[in-house]
Amino acid sequence: MINAKVIDVFLKINPKKYRYLKNTKIVTMRISSEITKAINDQISYEASSTYAYIAMGAWCERIGYDGSAAFFFEQANEENTHMLMFIHYLNKAGAEAIIPAIEKPQDKFDSLESTFQAGLKSEQTVTKLIYNLVDMADKEKDRAAYSFLQWFVSEQIEEETLFQTILQKFEILGRDKLAVYQIDQSLASTRTQVMAKKQIKNNPQSTG
Ligand SMILES: [Fe+2]
Ligand SMILES: [Fe+2]
Repeated sequence: MINAKVIDVFLKINPKKYRYLKNTKIVTMRISSEITKAINDQISYEASSTYAYIAMGAWCERIGYDGSAAFFFEQANEENTHMLMFIHYLNKAGAEAIIPAIEKPQDKFDSLESTFQAGLKSEQTVTKLIYNLVDMADKEKDRAAYSFLQWFVSEQIEEETLFQTILQKFEILGRDKLAVYQIDQSLASTRTQVMAKKQIKNNPQSTG
Protein backbone atom coordinates (compact mmCIF):
# COMPACT_ATOMS: atom_id res chain seq x y z
CA MET A 1 0.00 0.00 0.00
CA ILE A 2 1.48 3.33 -1.01
CA ASN A 3 0.14 6.81 -1.52
CA ALA A 4 0.72 9.32 -4.30
CA LYS A 5 2.94 11.66 -2.21
CA VAL A 6 5.36 8.87 -1.35
CA ILE A 7 5.63 7.88 -5.01
CA ASP A 8 6.46 11.50 -5.95
CA VAL A 9 9.26 11.61 -3.38
CA PHE A 10 10.85 8.39 -4.70
CA LEU A 11 10.54 9.54 -8.30
CA LYS A 12 12.33 12.81 -7.45
CA ILE A 13 15.17 10.98 -5.69
CA ASN A 14 15.89 8.59 -8.54
CA PRO A 15 13.44 8.62 -11.44
CA LYS A 16 15.18 5.80 -13.30
CA LYS A 17 15.48 3.41 -10.38
CA TYR A 18 11.94 3.95 -9.14
CA ARG A 19 10.17 4.29 -12.49
CA TYR A 20 8.22 1.07 -11.79
CA LEU A 21 6.41 2.98 -9.07
CA LYS A 22 4.53 4.93 -11.75
CA ASN A 23 2.40 1.85 -12.30
CA THR A 24 1.78 1.24 -8.61
CA LYS A 25 -1.82 1.02 -7.59
CA ILE A 26 -2.52 4.06 -5.45
CA VAL A 27 -4.62 3.43 -2.42
CA THR A 28 -5.93 6.27 -0.33
CA MET A 29 -7.14 5.65 3.20
CA ARG A 30 -10.78 6.50 3.60
CA ILE A 31 -11.28 5.20 7.09
CA SER A 32 -10.08 6.52 10.47
CA SER A 33 -7.50 4.70 12.55
CA GLU A 34 -10.08 4.31 15.38
CA ILE A 35 -12.59 2.50 13.17
CA THR A 36 -9.76 0.48 11.61
CA LYS A 37 -8.72 -0.69 15.07
CA ALA A 38 -12.28 -1.48 16.11
CA ILE A 39 -12.90 -3.48 12.92
CA ASN A 40 -9.62 -5.34 13.45
CA ASP A 41 -10.87 -6.23 16.94
CA GLN A 42 -14.08 -7.44 15.33
CA ILE A 43 -12.08 -9.58 12.86
CA SER A 44 -10.44 -11.15 15.88
CA TYR A 45 -13.80 -11.80 17.55
CA GLU A 46 -15.31 -13.36 14.40
CA ALA A 47 -12.25 -15.61 14.12
CA SER A 48 -12.64 -16.68 17.76
CA SER A 49 -16.35 -17.33 17.15
CA THR A 50 -15.49 -19.50 14.16
CA TYR A 51 -13.24 -21.65 16.36
CA ALA A 52 -15.70 -21.65 19.26
CA TYR A 53 -18.45 -23.06 17.00
CA ILE A 54 -16.10 -25.64 15.48
CA ALA A 55 -15.26 -26.78 19.03
CA MET A 56 -18.99 -27.04 19.89
CA GLY A 57 -19.61 -28.98 16.67
CA ALA A 58 -16.74 -31.34 17.42
CA TRP A 59 -18.05 -31.96 20.96
CA CYS A 60 -21.57 -32.69 19.62
CA GLU A 61 -20.17 -35.00 16.94
CA ARG A 62 -18.19 -36.94 19.55
CA ILE A 63 -21.20 -37.37 21.82
CA GLY A 64 -23.48 -38.35 18.92
CA TYR A 65 -25.59 -35.21 18.57
CA ASP A 66 -25.33 -35.23 14.79
CA GLY A 67 -28.02 -32.61 14.07
CA SER A 68 -26.38 -30.11 16.41
CA ALA A 69 -22.90 -30.92 15.09
CA ALA A 70 -24.02 -30.06 11.54
CA PHE A 71 -25.68 -26.91 12.91
CA PHE A 72 -22.52 -25.69 14.66
CA PHE A 73 -20.19 -26.49 11.75
CA GLU A 74 -22.45 -24.43 9.49
CA GLN A 75 -22.54 -21.69 12.13
CA ALA A 76 -18.71 -21.69 12.08
CA ASN A 77 -18.79 -21.23 8.30
CA GLU A 78 -20.96 -18.17 8.76
CA GLU A 79 -18.64 -16.61 11.33
CA ASN A 80 -15.75 -17.23 8.94
CA THR A 81 -17.69 -15.40 6.23
CA HIS A 82 -18.28 -12.47 8.61
CA MET A 83 -14.56 -12.34 9.34
CA LEU A 84 -13.78 -12.23 5.60
CA MET A 85 -16.35 -9.47 5.05
CA PHE A 86 -14.55 -7.29 7.62
CA ILE A 87 -11.13 -8.17 6.15
CA HIS A 88 -12.27 -7.22 2.63
CA TYR A 89 -13.85 -4.03 3.93
CA LEU A 90 -10.65 -2.78 5.58
CA ASN A 91 -8.38 -3.73 2.70
CA LYS A 92 -10.65 -2.08 0.14
CA ALA A 93 -10.87 1.06 2.29
CA GLY A 94 -7.08 1.36 2.06
CA ALA A 95 -6.44 0.23 5.62
CA GLU A 96 -4.76 -2.96 6.78
CA ALA A 97 -6.70 -5.97 8.00
CA ILE A 98 -4.78 -7.88 10.63
CA ILE A 99 -5.17 -11.65 10.78
CA PRO A 100 -5.27 -12.52 14.48
CA ALA A 101 -3.91 -15.36 16.59
CA ILE A 102 -6.73 -17.41 18.09
CA GLU A 103 -6.88 -18.80 21.60
CA LYS A 104 -7.95 -22.39 22.20
CA PRO A 105 -11.76 -22.40 22.53
CA GLN A 106 -13.84 -24.16 25.18
CA ASP A 107 -14.11 -27.79 24.02
CA LYS A 108 -15.99 -29.50 26.85
CA PHE A 109 -19.63 -28.90 27.72
CA ASP A 110 -22.01 -30.14 30.42
CA SER A 111 -24.96 -30.72 28.12
CA LEU A 112 -26.36 -30.01 24.67
CA GLU A 113 -28.34 -27.13 26.14
CA SER A 114 -25.17 -25.52 27.51
CA THR A 115 -23.62 -25.36 24.02
CA PHE A 116 -26.58 -23.30 22.83
CA GLN A 117 -26.43 -21.14 25.96
CA ALA A 118 -22.77 -20.43 25.19
CA GLY A 119 -23.75 -19.66 21.57
CA LEU A 120 -26.44 -17.19 22.63
CA LYS A 121 -24.07 -15.45 25.04
CA SER A 122 -21.46 -15.07 22.32
CA GLU A 123 -24.03 -13.70 19.85
CA GLN A 124 -25.21 -11.16 22.45
CA THR A 125 -21.61 -10.02 22.90
CA VAL A 126 -21.22 -9.64 19.12
CA THR A 127 -24.42 -7.59 18.95
CA LYS A 128 -22.98 -5.16 21.51
CA LEU A 129 -19.70 -4.93 19.59
CA ILE A 130 -21.55 -4.25 16.33
CA TYR A 131 -23.64 -1.55 18.01
CA ASN A 132 -20.44 0.07 19.31
CA LEU A 133 -19.04 0.05 15.79
CA VAL A 134 -22.24 1.62 14.45
CA ASP A 135 -22.05 4.34 17.12
CA MET A 136 -18.44 5.01 16.20
CA ALA A 137 -19.23 5.25 12.47
CA ASP A 138 -22.15 7.55 13.25
CA LYS A 139 -20.03 9.84 15.44
CA GLU A 140 -17.32 10.09 12.79
CA LYS A 141 -19.92 10.58 10.05
CA ASP A 142 -18.36 7.64 8.21
CA ARG A 143 -21.36 6.88 6.01
CA ALA A 144 -19.65 4.04 4.15
CA ALA A 145 -18.86 2.15 7.35
CA TYR A 146 -22.31 2.95 8.74
CA SER A 147 -24.07 1.46 5.73
CA PHE A 148 -21.72 -1.57 5.61
CA LEU A 149 -22.52 -2.28 9.28
CA GLN A 150 -26.29 -2.28 8.77
CA TRP A 151 -26.10 -5.79 7.31
CA PHE A 152 -24.53 -6.98 10.58
CA VAL A 153 -27.21 -5.25 12.66
CA SER A 154 -29.97 -7.32 11.06
CA GLU A 155 -27.77 -10.43 10.97
CA GLN A 156 -27.35 -10.21 14.76
CA ILE A 157 -31.10 -9.93 15.34
CA GLU A 158 -31.51 -13.17 13.36
CA GLU A 159 -28.66 -14.92 15.18
CA GLU A 160 -29.99 -14.09 18.64
CA THR A 161 -33.53 -15.10 17.67
CA LEU A 162 -32.25 -18.39 16.29
CA PHE A 163 -30.43 -19.35 19.50
CA GLN A 164 -33.36 -18.22 21.65
CA THR A 165 -35.75 -20.36 19.58
CA ILE A 166 -33.55 -23.42 20.04
CA LEU A 167 -33.20 -22.84 23.78
CA GLN A 168 -36.98 -22.51 24.03
CA LYS A 169 -37.29 -26.07 22.75
CA PHE A 170 -35.61 -27.31 25.94
CA GLU A 171 -38.23 -25.44 27.98
CA ILE A 172 -41.07 -26.93 25.93
CA LEU A 173 -39.89 -30.50 25.36
CA GLY A 174 -37.80 -30.94 28.51
CA ARG A 175 -34.33 -32.29 29.11
CA ASP A 176 -34.72 -36.05 29.36
CA LYS A 177 -32.85 -38.23 26.88
CA LEU A 178 -35.72 -38.56 24.41
CA ALA A 179 -36.46 -34.82 24.43
CA VAL A 180 -32.80 -33.94 23.87
CA TYR A 181 -32.65 -36.51 21.04
CA GLN A 182 -35.70 -34.92 19.39
CA ILE A 183 -34.26 -31.42 19.75
CA ASP A 184 -30.99 -32.58 18.21
CA GLN A 185 -32.82 -34.16 15.29
CA SER A 186 -34.86 -30.99 14.73
CA LEU A 187 -31.66 -28.94 14.42
CA ALA A 188 -30.90 -30.11 10.90
CA SER A 189 -34.20 -28.75 9.56
CA THR A 190 -33.89 -25.55 11.65
CA ARG A 191 -30.59 -24.82 9.91
CA THR A 192 -32.07 -25.54 6.45
CA GLN A 193 -34.97 -23.14 7.11
CA VAL A 194 -32.62 -20.40 8.32
CA MET A 195 -30.33 -20.81 5.31
CA ALA A 196 -33.28 -20.61 2.92
CA LYS A 197 -34.44 -17.37 4.58
CA LYS A 198 -30.93 -15.91 4.40
CA GLN A 199 -30.64 -16.73 0.72
CA ILE A 200 -33.84 -14.77 0.07
CA LYS A 201 -32.49 -11.86 2.15
CA ASN A 202 -29.12 -11.78 0.34
CA ASN A 203 -30.46 -12.46 -3.11
CA PRO A 204 -34.09 -11.32 -3.36
CA GLN A 205 -34.24 -11.86 -7.15
CA SER A 206 -33.80 -15.62 -6.71
CA THR A 207 -37.33 -15.89 -5.36
CA GLY A 208 -38.73 -14.86 -8.75
FE1 LIG B 1 -20.49 -13.15 13.28
FE1 LIG C 1 -22.94 -15.07 14.77
